[in-house]
Amino acid sequence: MPFAHITGWGMAVPEQVLTNFDLEKIIETSDNWIVEMTGIKERRIAEKDQTTSMLAVEAAWNALSVAKLKPADIDLIICATSTPEYLFPATACLIQDRLGATKAGAFDLSAACSGFIYAMNMAAQAIRSGSLNNVLVIGAETLSQFVDWSDRNTCILFGDGAGAIVLQSSEIPGGVISAVMHSDGSGADLLTVPAGGSKNPASEETIRAGMHYIHMDGREVFRFATRVMAQATREAILSAGILMEDVKWIIPHQANLRIIEAAARGLKVPLERFVVNLERYGNTSTASIPIAICEAASDGRLQKGDKFVLVGFGAGLTWGALTAQWTGVLEADHVIRPTYYRFIARTRSFLRRLWLRIEGIIWGRNTG
Ligand code: COA
Repeated sequence: MPFAHITGWGMAVPEQVLTNFDLEKIIETSDNWIVEMTGIKERRIAEKDQTTSMLAVEAAWNALSVAKLKPADIDLIICATSTPEYLFPATACLIQDRLGATKAGAFDLSAACSGFIYAMNMAAQAIRSGSLNNVLVIGAETLSQFVDWSDRNTCILFGDGAGAIVLQSSEIPGGVISAVMHSDGSGADLLTVPAGGSKNPASEETIRAGMHYIHMDGREVFRFATRVMAQATREAILSAGILMEDVKWIIPHQANLRIIEAAARGLKVPLERFVVNLERYGNTSTASIPIAICEAASDGRLQKGDKFVLVGFGAGLTWGALTAQWTGVLEADHVIRPTYYRFIARTRSFLRRLWLRIEGIIWGRNTG
């Protein structure tokens, strides 16, 4: 049975930084309160025309470069996102087009902030079953578009960004070892964007009531999160057949430092073994774990052979954890040409769109 190795990683965050001091100017809050209650100091905010797929594509190009793959090598793109560009088409299809991943299937995975763990598990299972070789797993968000900037309970928490991982098949043992996924829909209303779906389609009324923004019962979500983080980590480790001492790093969803501290206490693991970067990005939902992986890889914390745990929770309610062994950069004897692939992808997309129009004219689509 093949193994699913992490062979590429990449991230992209918007340039615009929004600090707690900036927030002090638009809502009644303080840097002190936000740091003390969440650990967050600043977050990145996308430009108005910078979309979820754009951040995802930048992260994906970086991940493909590390893995030394060309877009045509990808069999499947899974985009975990809480802020897709549309109800449909899937944001993953927009990514497929921009990358020129001509052989890839593409779909979005909706499990809120647990989405990246769910997506990694689905991708790893597909590889382990022998049906796929190269899967691109992305977590990408523009949460700033769904935040009510007058609601101090939520707007302090969230940020924008994307992270991407390449999972590759190999006969050599390693890569993803185990995963657990959980859900409890009885808590669905604790964290939700109430309008814009089929239950409450967007209307003047839903917009006036602010139902297209993130609504959250912070206290209940906090209680839930502190309960499940340690529990899911333990389950994943048990299912991997390893011990807590074997785990070098825990890479948690970056929602709130107090939640991560509670998990550390619950697991009796020092906070130093957790990868934490939420002070700079806030909660980027599905993107938070892959961004943290990228930073831990690039500063050398993650070393070849290290065992680590990803653990997260989110709306749904959903939660889960995954254990893996770090592979690192693979030796490759072929040369890749990222600039050329970008050019080909753009040209191909343009020509495909043009051809679809010409076909429409030939077959009388626009003749009424
Ligand atoms: N600045 C200053 N004061 C604030 C504030 C802000 N941004 N937000 C709330 N407050 C005030 C409240 O008005 C309240 O004041 P009061 O006691 O005078 O009524 C007080 O702080 C406590 O509010 P509460 O909402 O009960 O705070 P809390 O202890 O639950 O902390 C969160 C709020 C959001 C930090 C916390 O609930 C949390 O992190 N929850 C988890 C959220 C999360 O992770 N969501 C994403 C999941 S993927």
